[in-house]
Amino acid sequence: MLKLKNINTFYGNIQALRDVSIDISEGEIITLIGANGAGKTTTLMSISGIVPPRSGEIRFMGAPIHQSRPDDIVRQGLCHVPEGRRIFPYLTVAENLDMGAFLRNDKEGIRRDTEYIFELFPILAERRNQAGGTLSGGEQQMLAISRALMAQPRLLLLDEPSLGLAPLVIRQIFDIIRKINQESNTTIFLVEQNANLALQVAHRGYVMENGKITLTDSAQALLANEDVKKAYLGM
Ligand SMILES: Nc1ncnc2c1ncn2[C@@H]1O[C@H](COP(=O)(O)OP(=O)(O)OP(=O)(O)O)[C@@H](O)[C@H]1O
Ligand SMILES: [Mg+2]
Repeated sequence: MLKLKNINTFYGNIQALRDVSIDISEGEIITLIGANGAGKTTTLMSISGIVPPRSGEIRFMGAPIHQSRPDDIVRQGLCHVPEGRRIFPYLTVAENLDMGAFLRNDKEGIRRDTEYIFELFPILAERRNQAGGTLSGGEQQMLAISRALMAQPRLLLLDEPSLGLAPLVIRQIFDIIRKINQESNTTIFLVEQNANLALQVAHRGYVMENGKITLTDSAQALLANEDVKKAYLGM
């Protein structure tokens, strides 16, 4: 479904990604783990066209996207929930969800998907007329994910959904990630510093160090890997 081949991405003269290759099949949850500054966010921004790679190839559903504009990439079914849950603080929860559906005009489908989201996150239904900026951090993360779902993505890119949230809220969000993957057959590419959680929900994973992929395996094997345990699982 998504294929990165030898991606090299720069910020000016600084090279952030080095020959990054990643393969994601339809229906999978894939996680990318790594330390601060490893290049995880840059990988997602290269995929979604925000920081296009200087060289290499990215294909989504067979079509090259490494030279496409971000909005064209969204239109093809690839949605990015950025780090730090950037919702619209002055719009209500319901209006935030409508913004996620801005490329659609199937009113009935939009209504159905809104209902589905309110089932997934009952707290958002309760707060539907409240301004996004007044929500708790966890609720804002739920809203950010929900807004992306309103675009009916085939592939969802999630950047650090657990960042700064309480353990109970994190568990809730990860349960929903699994549910979204299973119920609406949405493929998920999950970037996390919380490697333990990410590997518990993912099918496969990639480890990134200093802009390079250094290891890839099934999530189970990575959880049991001694180097991964030492470096990322605090064992
Ligand atoms: N806008 C920018 N300009 C210059 N350098 C940048 C920029 N954004 C990131 N970098 C650099 O690129 C490298 C990769 O950063 P990136 O944000 O992708 O890491 P990350 O793995 O997402 O880290 P974190 O876990 O802290 O979110 C780092 O060395 C960082 O300093
Ligand atoms: Mg990051």
